[in-house]
Amino acid sequence: MVELIGVTGPSCSGKSTVCREMEQRDEARRFSLDNFYRPEKELENNNYDHPNAVKFEQAYRALKDLKKGKEVVVPEFDKINNEVVGEKTFEPFPLILVDGFMVLYHDKIREILDKSIFLDIPKQEQLRRRKKRFREGGLYADEDYFHETVYPAYKKYIEPTKEYADHVIDADKEPEEVIEEVLSKLEI
Ligand SMILES: Nc1ncnc2c1ncn2[C@@H]1O[C@H](COP(=O)(O)OP(=O)(O)O)[C@@H](O)[C@H]1O
Ligand SMILES: [Mg+2]
Repeated sequence: MVELIGVTGPSCSGKSTVCREMEQRDEARRFSLDNFYRPEKELENNNYDHPNAVKFEQAYRALKDLKKGKEVVVPEFDKINNEVVGEKTFEPFPLILVDGFMVLYHDKIREILDKSIFLDIPKQEQLRRRKKRFREGGLYADEDYFHETVYPAYKKYIEPTKEYADHVIDADKEPEEVIEEVLSKLEI
């Protein structure tokens, strides 16, 4: 049996950190919705915080097959150049964590999940961690971009999906504590 667990929340809430750690511990595999971004040339506004940027139908079909125990092909998306650079096979695994800030946005994906977790952090902490991620070599440190694009999109599209989550976890604490709480909610 394959169990699909949605791990969602705002930018920098620690979704990928939690999912990668659980993958490292061999408890789960991480299926990232970030691999299903549309290439920049297909987007009108180059806005990767808008739901139009995600190929939800394709992600849904892959999750549906994984749920049936079938191997699937997942695109590899390069966030630096915003293009698809290849593909990878993804094998079924008893626990698959579906990582992404729009995981609970699309009704079909929401419905195929067995459970979901929303990692919650306040606005200032989102901003603080974005700057930290940038210092570590990540993307989008621009504070204006956060205030003008990222945060309004979060309020409009992501925060309203919190009500669909089975568990809302206060993620404004040490990563180890967040992981412990996730494990306890999932009864692992
Ligand atoms: N619990 C935490 N406390 C402090 N910093 C964290 C925590 N979890 C993640 N981070 C840091 O925040 C940044 C974003 O984490 P990431 O897991 O990529 O977030 P997301 O996938 O939700 O956007 C990284 O620099 C990461 O090291
Ligand atoms: Mg992430």
